[in-house]
Amino acid sequence: MQKIVEKINNGLKGTITIPSDKSISHRAVIFSSLAKGTSVIKNFSNGKDPISSLNVCKTLGVSAEFSKNSLIIRSTGNFQKPLFELDCGNSGTTIRLMSGILAGQNFNSTLIGDESLSKRPMKRIIEPLTLMGAKISSNEYKAPLNITGQKLKGINYISKLSSAQVKSCVLLAGLFADGTTSFTEPFVSRNHTEIMLKQMGANIKTEQNTVTICKSELEPIEMEIPGDISSAAYFIAAGLIVPNSKIILKNVGLNPTRTGILTIAEKMGGNIEILDKREINSEIVGDIQVSYSNLKSCIIEGEIIPKLIDELPVIAVMATQAKGTTVIKDAQDLRNKESDRIKAIVTELSKIGADIEETPDGFIINGKKSIQGGAEIETYHDHRLAMSLYIAGLVCKKPLCIKDFEWVNISFPEFDELFSLLSL
Ligand code: S3P
Repeated sequence: MQKIVEKINNGLKGTITIPSDKSISHRAVIFSSLAKGTSVIKNFSNGKDPISSLNVCKTLGVSAEFSKNSLIIRSTGNFQKPLFELDCGNSGTTIRLMSGILAGQNFNSTLIGDESLSKRPMKRIIEPLTLMGAKISSNEYKAPLNITGQKLKGINYISKLSSAQVKSCVLLAGLFADGTTSFTEPFVSRNHTEIMLKQMGANIKTEQNTVTICKSELEPIEMEIPGDISSAAYFIAAGLIVPNSKIILKNVGLNPTRTGILTIAEKMGGNIEILDKREINSEIVGDIQVSYSNLKSCIIEGEIIPKLIDELPVIAVMATQAKGTTVIKDAQDLRNKESDRIKAIVTELSKIGADIEETPDGFIINGKKSIQGGAEIETYHDHRLAMSLYIAGLVCKKPLCIKDFEWVNISFPEFDELFSLLSL
């Protein structure tokens, strides 16, 4: 599906509610499936990725039904040997978290994914799991992953990467392993796994960059999932760069391991206010007010990178509208996402007239430039590229034609509809 995006002249105005967090939705369905009894998950995501996690859990014998705004999960607390391959679709979170769990079961299983997922690196999880005693064969460290269930033992793993998917994979394997398992990462990545496992009764603790877990049984949970700050990020960027905008984004998750976009927006001079901060299921939630601002450039590097990793493509778009040179470093893992997001965003933004240069671990953007547009844009089968380039289209002189726009459905099927509410 092609999407034509045109310049907005009168600003974005109004209030919208941001839909459910993708990362938390994956964890909610997977962890509830491991808990004996009935769990109730309110505001589960409609995105294709969390639905992949749900379908994998169903293939492993868990019963699930939607009732009003809730997903009800009924589980015996144990997965059953699957009769089919487990299809993770496009979802890195599904394949990596499920690998940790399946490595320690008393049956064999195979995890598969779509073309993009089958190209993504799995060595990062196969290595620690193998140290724990797992048996996983793969296609040169890529999916399909054939897992022969084993008895696992705990390890103390020091990771070179700051990655919530790798951390969660190792911690979930630790739930089934003898002894204690710990995971240490250079900088703290998103901690939804730690928060939710603790709420469900796991023996887990965090000290600085290290999380430690012991074999535990999970209790069922009743929870409500907040809105996704990674989805809100597109509206934050749009509100900041489209002249005359003033918008309110309601019910956004504000876990400090995810709010790098807000820190950077403020550093760039963005006019952002947090309203009605509250806590739901140990996750911080609030409403975000964003107004058009004269942005200035900044340097983004180091510790903040895992806190805004998925937002970097749209931050690149923001930087095209910020005065000065914005430099993004230490983000080499962006090349291993649903696409090589460094190459992709640099190629597509250059095509429409932005001044952006690729570096091995990020990009350099010179602003403020008025962008020409008037081109056909590739999305690389990557939802975050599609949405980031849509935001660029709002400030282009000539319309953009974005190809394969349906990829937004991976995380944010409501994207287009919500945008039109703000540009009436
Ligand atoms: C995710 C973690 C991040 C992020 C991905 C979702 C998660 O990946 O990019 O979209 O839900 O744990 P890494 O952990 O590989 O950085």
